[in-house]
Amino acid sequence: MPCAQLIRMVPVAVIGSGYVGLVAAACLAELGHEVVCVDVDQERIKLLQSGGVPIFEEGLDALLARHRGQRLRFTCNLAEAVRHARVIFIAVGTPQSPTGEADLSQVESAVISMCPALDSYKVLVEKSTVPVLTSQWIARTLRLNGALEKNFDVVSNPEFLREGSAITDFLYPDRIVVGADTERSRQLLRELYQPLIDGSYYRRADRVDGPADLSGGVYYIETSTNSAELIKQASNAFLSLKVSFINAVSNLCERVNTDVEEVARGIGADRRIGSRFLRAGIGYGGSCFPKDIRAFGKVAEAVGYNFDLLKCIEQINEDQQTGFLKKLRTALWSLKDKRIAILGLAFKHGTDDIRESPAITIVRKILAEGSRVSIFDPAAMQNCRTMLPEGVRIQYARDEYDAVKGAHALVILTEWPQFSNLDLARLHLLMSYPIVIDGRNLYSPAKMSAAGFYYYSVGRPFSEPLSEKYAFALDHTQSQHSLDEKMALP
Ligand code: UGA
Repeated sequence: MPCAQLIRMVPVAVIGSGYVGLVAAACLAELGHEVVCVDVDQERIKLLQSGGVPIFEEGLDALLARHRGQRLRFTCNLAEAVRHARVIFIAVGTPQSPTGEADLSQVESAVISMCPALDSYKVLVEKSTVPVLTSQWIARTLRLNGALEKNFDVVSNPEFLREGSAITDFLYPDRIVVGADTERSRQLLRELYQPLIDGSYYRRADRVDGPADLSGGVYYIETSTNSAELIKQASNAFLSLKVSFINAVSNLCERVNTDVEEVARGIGADRRIGSRFLRAGIGYGGSCFPKDIRAFGKVAEAVGYNFDLLKCIEQINEDQQTGFLKKLRTALWSLKDKRIAILGLAFKHGTDDIRESPAITIVRKILAEGSRVSIFDPAAMQNCRTMLPEGVRIQYARDEYDAVKGAHALVILTEWPQFSNLDLARLHLLMSYPIVIDGRNLYSPAKMSAAGFYYYSVGRPFSEPLSEKYAFALDHTQSQHSLDEKMALP
């Protein structure tokens, strides 16, 4: 590994002050570069200039506060930001189009707008998630709009940031992937990431603390642009595949009365498989997996490959939510006029993001079957109020205990750590029926049984209250129980 070198400051422009853009801008400033973050949304830029932070992300406000007004500026003036920069990150939205492909119109519009400002050599970096071959479309658009060939290269540098840990994912990555087709652009990107490549960032006293000791430098992978684009799409598809796989296995576990957590531990101990992303639950959601997997399928279709596996991943994900609802019906018989406590709306813990959250889908279905809901989420309730307005059938609670008052069942939908430490005796007292349906396996069936609950979880045996005093007259015929019956058949 080379010894630490003096950092060469690279002037950077980041186009788009959304989730990816803001995190990248703050982290690149943290590495020592001079960064201008641009957005067309004037309100957002004003908010950022005045010290506000438009999204909830652990550690982002502190990092913005550290660099704002010094190495980090915000503007709506794209031309000025591009002229100032040697490296331009494109971090605008790439939402799903009605037909499932990624809608790249924001990328195209940003690229066209920057053409007049490409007055000397600059590297355009795709940071947003885009389909393979996008870099070629960007280069073509630049040429068609008058940019000189000698003044640009297009590079793919995909992000692998998870919401909730995006800052440390950026600064302490498993790998950095840079897809570039010229040595000149590769060299500039190496300069940009030098403090992470040589490990000097991790020896700084004022570094952001992270999960690993990377003082030897990060794993830096250089590829062609097409490969880097494919790495991003294939990575997300593979992670969703792992989630769907363990969810499918969880269904088998329920049918043979065993525990998916044990099975996952056994599978994951094989280092070729790995233990992460093997948590069974209510299915994946969020702004990335659902959209990216569909877009990947469309890419395959466009180049004439039948990638049916991707459809199966999606189908298993959908079925997981349907199967979870079935458990609630089994527990309560009918959902009409029941009062259901909901813990969790965010698509996962550590974020206020409810985009494609399986929790929202499940709440909607519960409402459609005639129940009333009382909801608590420590971060996502505000985002939810327009989508699920408060009223007679929907209430937003002050905390977990307020949510469960008088409830016929408690449904856990997001794995917030605070939900795994509830005072079970208090919960039991507050609820009308002691029924918990846990979509995130936060409790052990034995513990819930000892605490007097009828406990349903994912891929694990159903458990009843241990003590007679909790005897409870409901017919909860469970698929987990059906094996014994089946075995008894002639
Ligand atoms: C995901 C990827 O993990 C990032 O690497 C990627 O950069 C990002 O998408 C993106 O493309 O921008 P994120 O959407 O923040 O990040 O969320 P994850 O932590 O990956 O979780 C995705 C979903 O899978 C969540 O709904 C989560 O609850 C679910 N999940 C995850 C499981 O159900 N089980 C698991 O074991 C892991």
